[in-house]
Amino acid sequence: MNIRNNSLANIIGVLYMLVSVGCEAPPKDISMPQTDLSSEYLIPMPSTTVATNSAFKLDQYTRVVTNPVDGDLVNVANYLTDKIAEKTGLRLATNDIEGEEKEAVIYLLQQQNTSWPNDEAYRLSIKRDSLILEAPSAKAAFRGIQTIRQLIPEISNDTLAEYPIWPIATGSIEDHPNFEYRGSMLDVARHFFSVEDVKKYIELLAYYKINVLHLHLTDDQGWRIEIKSWPRLTEIGGSTEVGGEAGGFFTQEDYKEIVAYAAARYMMIVPEVDMPGHTNAASVSYPILNGNGKTPQLYQGTRVGFSTFDTRKDTVYAFIDDVVREISAITPGPYFHIGGDESHATKKADYLYFVNKVEKIVQKHGKQMIGWDEVAQADLDSTSIAQFWDNERNARSAIDKGMKVILSPAKKSYLDMQYDTLSKHGLHWAAYIPVDTAYVWTPETYVDQIPKEMILGVEAPLWSETISNMEELEYLAFPRVIGYSELSWSQEENRDWENFRVRLANQTPFLDMMNVNYYPSPRIDWVKSNRSFKEILKD
Ligand code: ACM
Repeated sequence: MNIRNNSLANIIGVLYMLVSVGCEAPPKDISMPQTDLSSEYLIPMPSTTVATNSAFKLDQYTRVVTNPVDGDLVNVANYLTDKIAEKTGLRLATNDIEGEEKEAVIYLLQQQNTSWPNDEAYRLSIKRDSLILEAPSAKAAFRGIQTIRQLIPEISNDTLAEYPIWPIATGSIEDHPNFEYRGSMLDVARHFFSVEDVKKYIELLAYYKINVLHLHLTDDQGWRIEIKSWPRLTEIGGSTEVGGEAGGFFTQEDYKEIVAYAAARYMMIVPEVDMPGHTNAASVSYPILNGNGKTPQLYQGTRVGFSTFDTRKDTVYAFIDDVVREISAITPGPYFHIGGDESHATKKADYLYFVNKVEKIVQKHGKQMIGWDEVAQADLDSTSIAQFWDNERNARSAIDKGMKVILSPAKKSYLDMQYDTLSKHGLHWAAYIPVDTAYVWTPETYVDQIPKEMILGVEAPLWSETISNMEELEYLAFPRVIGYSELSWSQEENRDWENFRVRLANQTPFLDMMNVNYYPSPRIDWVKSNRSFKEILKD
């Protein structure tokens, strides 16, 4: 039988048959407190929510059921049961048809017959004895299970039964993303971050339905990705970082590990090799690439705009061909980011010539080019993408060429900007960005004359001049990146600062459980969770 092509009713019927194998008396019905699905603290806010004011009982008898022949969906189900175990201590079975009769069942169903608003849409139907997640694909189901995770209360309601119960509000949620590209960028060049650090960041972002991690892999201060055909890039160019610390780099195996970890969370990695400026580390490793007329030295400062490749040398394009080829071969996503920002040491004509040539190299290796907004000055193909960070005219030029744009306005979305004058880390050349400023803007209309359909999405970059470890990273990224998840996922009519700030205040159980060193902005009335970060550190 092809389960995928059957109607929902049939599928549910089959699944009910499966779970009723090997009956035992179900636990007695236990009356649950009233819960209201529409006032849960979900981020990002779903498209529509209808509450029916009863409760589904998540407890030791609950099981998770999905189509056992759909490996991807089984993986999503297992991810959900792992996360339920981490949060509640309950180890639920997936597709345990031999076990005892369980009263409450969580179904993950692939449903391709409905017309979904887009390929990440999902629907939750929560009744007293069933929680049904329907989605067109495992990817969409993965987004949906983040909502389920958020609906599980931090603590169980121990008083109602002999065993703990986590009541989940009943009703239905229909949800889909506003933008297909919902990202954050991490600069591993100014300071290097380990594979474990990057994985933790990915895991945190996935909870908020973010689906892109852009890695800024190279800059003046460091080259962080192994290129087998040009080994000195990492031997020399990877040896230091801002402030003179030890630097580091990802081997290609490390990078593949990050890509796979992200892919298991339906997140794509966008690799960036910044050029023709921001290339000092490459030029120190191979001086033949250098075009600024000076002898390159390892650099540990934070000034920008002094380096450039020699854009008229064939060797430079042979080098770029190797770099793009090697990285593209281990990057399943469709994009390759060439940087292109702040090339102040490159003559304008050379810059335009360079960007055009590199676009063709990226295409030759099967990828679509992304570049910071300056690249839109070149004569680019409509399939290339401009990442707006600074210059609105560049963003409009991109649109005139039929290119899409990613919105990362420095004044609103740069995670490395300080919250205020007291911030321990960060810069403020673009702005101070407190938590409300980060949230209160409208990507759909932020740049004049850019229609919504030309906006691929929103990305919040985290540059690392002032941060060198995970605690500092988390201080700048959290809580602001949670707001960017809502700006990119939720429809405009569902975004509201006063409402968001209450939901944000209630993220503390998750952030504390994950040991996130978030900045406790005084603009948020943070809810004290069961275990605070500092208490965990004391343990
Ligand atoms: C940038 O901030 N230079 C893209």
